[in-house]
Amino acid sequence: MRKVIAAMKVSVDEKVEGSAGHADWVEAWSEDYGLMPQIDACVLGGGMYPGYEQYWTSIQNDPNTPVWITGKAPSPAEIEWARFAAETPHYVLSSTMTATRWPKTSFVRGIGEIADLKQQPGKDIYLVGGARTVASLIDAGLVDELRLIVYPLIAGVGKALFPTTEHRHRLELREVKQLEGGRVSLIYAIGNGAG
Ligand SMILES: NC(=O)c1ccc[n+]([C@@H]2O[C@H](COP(=O)([O-])OP(=O)(O)OC[C@H]3O[C@@H](n4cnc5c(N)ncnc54)[C@H](OP(=O)(O)O)[C@@H]3O)[C@@H](O)[C@H]2O)c1
Repeated sequence: MRKVIAAMKVSVDEKVEGSAGHADWVEAWSEDYGLMPQIDACVLGGGMYPGYEQYWTSIQNDPNTPVWITGKAPSPAEIEWARFAAETPHYVLSSTMTATRWPKTSFVRGIGEIADLKQQPGKDIYLVGGARTVASLIDAGLVDELRLIVYPLIAGVGKALFPTTEHRHRLELREVKQLEGGRVSLIYAIGNGAG
């Protein structure tokens, strides 16, 4: 069965966004987890999708103009993700949203549909976020792997990665790598049995 892989950029205190409403310590929103060769679908929560679509649409339309979250021109890796994202089906978990500008985006109305997606043939699925969606899909036993890039900072006030996780989940460390700028890449397998 294809795997669901959640991957997020967090501070040491596990914040996924700061008081500004985004993780302003992240210098680029490129897919830095090495997932592109192994995925052919993305799952996102309705909370983050509008900002995500706006961010990557602006890079797709004009890769030379500074983008609104980072305030900088997109990096080559961001331009690569913008192209990949345009060709890749995106599934947005939302009971309320109906409109998207991306032809390959569709809305899923409950986590049962994510379970169905896992059963379909295909490559792995990248769970892009946000925090509540990652927490609820982990609690539902649908996430197989967690990839974190930990930034060297205590963010303080902000949105935590697992604020709504209800159950204990055992993790098995698969890889640790030190990255540029004091960041650390962690890959965990998630045990979906009794913990
Ligand atoms: N640091 C990072 O790497 C990173 C990555 C991605 C996102 N983020 C941050 O995460 C923030 C968004 O996270 P969020 O937690 O506010 O929202 P979210 O997880 O993106 O979306 C939550 C929404 O998903 C829908 N939903 C439907 N069924 C659900 C279920 N079973 N469980 C959870 N959600 C369900 C609901 O929308 P309806 O009300 O429409 O049903 C819910 O309001 C963004 O602002 C972004 O800054 C950070």
